[in-house]
Amino acid sequence: MTILENLLRRKNPDDALEKASKGGLEKTLGVWDLIILGVGAIIGSGIFAVVGIAAAGSVDGTSPGAGPALIVSMVVAAIACVFSALCYSEFAAMIPVAGGAYAYTFATLGEFAAWLVGWILMLEYVIAFIAVSCAWANYVMQFLKGFGHILPAWIVNPPVWLVNDYRSAISTLTTQGVDYHSVIPSICGILFSINLPAALIILFITLTLIKGTKDSTKMAAFMVALKLGIIGMFIVTGLFFIEPANWTPFAPNGANGIFMGAFIIFFAYIGFDALATTAEECKNPQRDLPRGIIGSLLVTTIVYTLVALVLTGIYRTQGHVDTAFLDAPVAFSISNVLPGFWAKAVPGFISVGVIAGLTSVLLVMQMAATRILYAMSRDNFLPESFQKLHPKFSTPHILTWTVGIVSIFGTLTLNLDAAAALCNFGTFTSFIIVCVAILILRKIDPDRPRPFKVPFCPWFPLLGILSCGGLMIFSMVIAKGNSAKLSTELFFAWIIMGALIYATYGYHKNRSAEKISKEVNNTKTEKENVLN
Ligand code: ALA
Repeated sequence: MTILENLLRRKNPDDALEKASKGGLEKTLGVWDLIILGVGAIIGSGIFAVVGIAAAGSVDGTSPGAGPALIVSMVVAAIACVFSALCYSEFAAMIPVAGGAYAYTFATLGEFAAWLVGWILMLEYVIAFIAVSCAWANYVMQFLKGFGHILPAWIVNPPVWLVNDYRSAISTLTTQGVDYHSVIPSICGILFSINLPAALIILFITLTLIKGTKDSTKMAAFMVALKLGIIGMFIVTGLFFIEPANWTPFAPNGANGIFMGAFIIFFAYIGFDALATTAEECKNPQRDLPRGIIGSLLVTTIVYTLVALVLTGIYRTQGHVDTAFLDAPVAFSISNVLPGFWAKAVPGFISVGVIAGLTSVLLVMQMAATRILYAMSRDNFLPESFQKLHPKFSTPHILTWTVGIVSIFGTLTLNLDAAAALCNFGTFTSFIIVCVAILILRKIDPDRPRPFKVPFCPWFPLLGILSCGGLMIFSMVIAKGNSAKLSTELFFAWIIMGALIYATYGYHKNRSAEKISKEVNNTKTEKENVLN
């Protein structure tokens, strides 16, 4: 075979299904578990933090805000997601194997594209995992400050280098006019700063996932109930304080504001695709996965549009906005309209909901990252030892630890602004590829049983490609800030790094695996000939 043929080698979906049926992942998830996991993965820092910039724009003016038209941005982002969600559903029901978009690409676009998609999905899940764990740490520290009068000072006001990555520690100290060299300790001349709460939550999530998927789902169910309760409280209370005057002008920055808002708030929808990676742990993936994916996207869209309506109705998002609104829009806007005691108490309740919400996002993100790596290792892109399951819990514990440890290192250096945009780029790319893959598989394998079919094919997949590609290109053209530039550059650097790893490891590993399987087949044939 030529190199090109090797790069385009497609994996027969039946082989993937056969390997999956021999795999040891326990089948414990039903449709409600999936909807809980989906909502658990989706509703998080997007709606609790990022929504502020989507509505009001960034402070430095590099990204225009949607204003009250945030509700339109929410719907645009949901539409971009729904076409891809339908494509994910068709694939997940047709090829229910761990690996999600990665596995579908292997069946349609070939070996190299599959590796790249897996690599891009790592960008999506691991970076989202790191970013959300840092957001979690910020909220926990904020929450603890509320108990300043009872907790010891070292918990409420810890040294800056124990609750920040080194960049944030340097920038915080510099803003305060403090010489950071005198505060941040150094080891062999290298500054040492660690986000300890973020590292601890990563450790906790890692151990929970190793204990088992079913337990993790139970935990996610509790957190989902808590965060939905808090959001419900925000919506119902906020309805009484809506000032219709806040809704005019409706779109202060016109189409630019609406589409930039849609690009930013897209981060809030990321997560439903992670459900596809749990296919091998579903009791009835053909029936339940499409329901889980579309159901969780539907619940989230309804919740988000109501939040957008109330948020922009109780707080004026045009013109000058308070920076506290950008940090914690939901908590700030409601405490701004509530009287006396409630104005102080409600942000505390909301922080509890946010912490629970972010914890469930973390659970699903790490689970998805490990399941994709598991599938990639099974396909010889990564060392075989990664596939080892825990002797007692039947979970991929080596991979779970690997993702956990890499993420802890990530929290040492990560720039959060760039991380969210980087995560969006990765997700848009994987959504586009899944839509393309649906079109290809309908052509090359039209007779394969499809328990769920994307309606109006090829139009819906094409609209998915157009809407995701459009938002991605739009953001590259419109966003002017440094973090937007950095995330675009990092995205391309990530792709180049992935191609190099494949060229030096995955490509050769796959060729030797092919050689071994050919030899085994030849020996089998020879034995059969002798017997006959
Ligand atoms: N959708 C997830 C969140 O908003 C990534 O935190």
